Amino acid sequence: MIKPTLRSVITGVGGYLPEDIVTNADLAKTVDTSDEWIFERTGIRQRHKAAEGQYTSDLATEAALKALAAAGRGPQHVDLIIVATTTPDLTFPSVATMVQAKIGAPVGIAFDVQAVCSGFVYALSVADGFVARGLAKCALVIGAETMTRLMDWHDRGTCVLFGDGAGAVVLEGQMGQGTTADRGMLGFSLRADGTKRDLLYVDGGPSTTGTTGKLRMAGNQVFRHAVVNISEAIEASAAVAGVSIDQIDWFVPHQANQRILEGVARRVGLDEHKVISTVSIHANTSAASIPLALAHGIDDGRIKPGHMVLLEAMGGGLTWGACVLRL
Ligand code: UT7
Repeated sequence: MIKPTLRSVITGVGGYLPEDIVTNADLAKTVDTSDEWIFERTGIRQRHKAAEGQYTSDLATEAALKALAAAGRGPQHVDLIIVATTTPDLTFPSVATMVQAKIGAPVGIAFDVQAVCSGFVYALSVADGFVARGLAKCALVIGAETMTRLMDWHDRGTCVLFGDGAGAVVLEGQMGQGTTADRGMLGFSLRADGTKRDLLYVDGGPSTTGTTGKLRMAGNQVFRHAVVNISEAIEASAAVAGVSIDQIDWFVPHQANQRILEGVARRVGLDEHKVISTVSIHANTSAASIPLALAHGIDDGRIKPGHMVLLEAMGGGLTWGACVLRL
């Protein structure tokens, strides 16, 4: 049945990785690890590291400007900015307000979303709430992180896994027919389980230690939850969207570990050729990893407008979620 529906549609995507690259071999000089171990267990070959004096808002701004250019829009069109980040420049103000000032966007709505590695999927659903209700016309949804600043460089179980980067999408309202043929957000499934906080957290913060703290993770326990939780969220988001897994053209997952991507794809029955994997290039960039992978798949010509795309992520909290959209 045709039911005119306002959808929030991704009209531009951009990614930014800082210049400095740290290889597995570089890390093996300072911690007891090896390129073989890291690549075999995670698929990671290298990560990018923000330069001294380069902050999360700088990475976010670069990605935002690329996404705007891809959408054929300028900063003057932007009326909503949401940044998903767990590594803000400062405790406040939000990175989103900093991006607003840096790109020269007019007075509008700007705030951050904190759901760690799931942040981009959470932020996209929040932005969808604005755009698909006509409360914003041109939104920037950005995942931006300087995760290397949270590393304990003596802990080989975590310091080899993360990197810095940013990715952004422009979201604009377009009328559809209320069917799965419409471009735009078709279904979300978001979850959190605060009882699992000790599996992945940062051991500092403004109201506890008064410090930024360092990332701590029980990696193999997080791994065990990841495949099961993410698969369930994928199936739930596909059910909300009213699509079957066979209809998905591209799977653009959070890039934490190649074995998780493959495990999830197998479990939900997704062809491995449909998986966009960038984990080898930039490691786990937390909230930035999905838009970075999306930008990669678009830039290399695989993902095209009209394709059905599945996003998913899991991170500290624990939080996790998935989204089905037509690009
Ligand atoms: O984005 C947020 C979500 N995060 C994730 O999804 C991460 C999920 N977890 C993982 O990706 C994996 O669990 C890791 C990559 C973190 C670890 O892989 P694993 O296969 O689960 O290894 P493990 O933690 O069970 O450790 C196995 C061994 C241990 O040694 P022993 O106790 O068996 O002697 C570790 O000490 O590997 C050792 N190990 C390392 N060895 C060399 C841990 N880290 C390293 C390292 N280099 N960097």
